[in-house]
Amino acid sequence: MKTLSIHSAIGNSEILVGETLVNVGTYLPKNRKIAIITDKNIRSLYGSQFPQADVIIEIPEGENNKVLHTLENIFEQLVAAEFDRTSFILAIGGGIVCDVSGFAAATFMRGIDFGFVSTTLLSQVDASVGGKNGVNFKGFKNMIGTFCLPRFVICELNMLTSLPTSELLSGMAEVVKHGAIADPDLFEYIEQNPDKVLAYDAEALERFVYDSVVIKSTIVNKDAKEGGARRFFNFGHTFGHAIEKNTKMPHGYAVSIGMVIASKMSAARGLLSQHDVDRIIAVLQALGLPTECEIEPIALFEALKRDKKRDGDGIHFVLLDKIGNAVVEKLSLNELEQIIHDLR
Ligand SMILES: NC(=O)c1ccc[n+]([C@@H]2O[C@H](COP(=O)([O-])OP(=O)(O)OC[C@H]3O[C@@H](n4cnc5c(N)ncnc54)[C@H](O)[C@@H]3O)[C@@H](O)[C@H]2O)c1
Ligand SMILES: [Zn+2]
Repeated sequence: MKTLSIHSAIGNSEILVGETLVNVGTYLPKNRKIAIITDKNIRSLYGSQFPQADVIIEIPEGENNKVLHTLENIFEQLVAAEFDRTSFILAIGGGIVCDVSGFAAATFMRGIDFGFVSTTLLSQVDASVGGKNGVNFKGFKNMIGTFCLPRFVICELNMLTSLPTSELLSGMAEVVKHGAIADPDLFEYIEQNPDKVLAYDAEALERFVYDSVVIKSTIVNKDAKEGGARRFFNFGHTFGHAIEKNTKMPHGYAVSIGMVIASKMSAARGLLSQHDVDRIIAVLQALGLPTECEIEPIALFEALKRDKKRDGDGIHFVLLDKIGNAVVEKLSLNELEQIIHDLR
C-alpha cells in the first residue's frame, strides 16, 4: 500500500492506494453511526466484504440519477436512521456514488465526516481525489455541488478486476490526460504498454492510479479551487462534456475525443507539434478509445456556450504546448466558433 496526502485550502485527506475493502473497518470512527452509500451492482459483487454499518443506502446507477432527487432519498434515510452531526458516511463505489455521497455528507446537517472506497479506475485516478462533489441539474453536468474533502480515499486495486472493459477504458482516458498535461514518462509508459491495460495488469494499474494521484494531489495542494493549475485537469473536458451530453457516451470516451480536439486546437494555435498530436491520437486508438464522433459542429458550439466554465464572453481552454505540459488560454466565443469551423 502507498499513502499520499492532500493538505489544501479546502482541507486534508489521506489517499491510500492499494488498501483493501476488508480492512476498511479499521479506518471508521468508533461509537458513531455509520451509513454506507453504494449502488446495487457493487453491493451484489462486494456486499459480503462491507464493514458493519447502521444503514446501507443504495442509489440508482447512471448519470441520470446523479440528481437532487437522489440526495433527497439519502437525506430521508439518514433522518429515519436518526443520524446526527457526529455520524459518518462511507461511500463505496465509482465516481457517481462518490460525487453524490460527498455532496450529501458536505450538506447533511451542514456537513458530516465521510470517506470513500473508490471502486472504478476513473474514480480512483480522478473523481474521488480532490474534493469536488455534486450533481447534475436540468441537464447541466455537475452544476450543483461543493468543495469538501473526505477524511480518506481508499483506492481498492483488487476491485478493478471486475470492471467491464468499457469502464476500465473510460478511466484510462483520464490517465492519458494526466500524462498529457503533466507527466511525459507516464504518457510514454502507456504508449509502450497498451496490452497491459487490456490485460488488467496489476502492476500497470497500480502505476496508473498512483502516478495520477501524485499529479492530482500535487496540483490540488497548490490550487484547490481551480483558479490556476487545477484548470489543467479540464483538458479535453470542455468539448468532452458537450460530446457526453449530446451522445450519452461514457465520460472517458467523450473526454478521449475532447482531448483529440483540444490537441488539434493546440497545433492550430502553433503550440503543439503535429508529431505530438499524432502520438496522442495513436495512444488513444491503441487503447481502443474513440478519437472522433459525428456531431454537428453547431450543436457542440451551442453546448459549449452554456458550459459553466464559460467566463464572460469567453472560455478558459486547456491546451498543450508539448506532451507533459498544459497551458490555459482564454478564447472568445467568436474565436472558438472559427476554430470549430476550421477543424471540421
Ligand atoms: N468529482 C470529480 O472531480 C470528478 C472527476 C471526474 C469524474 N467525475 C464524475 O464521475 C462519474 C463517473 O464515474 P464512474 O465512471 O466511476 O461511474 P459510475 O460510478 O457510474 O460507475 C460505473 C459503473 O461501474 C460499476 N462499478 C463500479 N465499481 C465496480 C467494480 N469494482 N466492479 C464492477 N463494476 C463496478 C458501477 O456500478 C456502474 O455501473 C461522472 O458522473 C463524472 O462526472 C467526477
Ligand atoms: Zn473527467
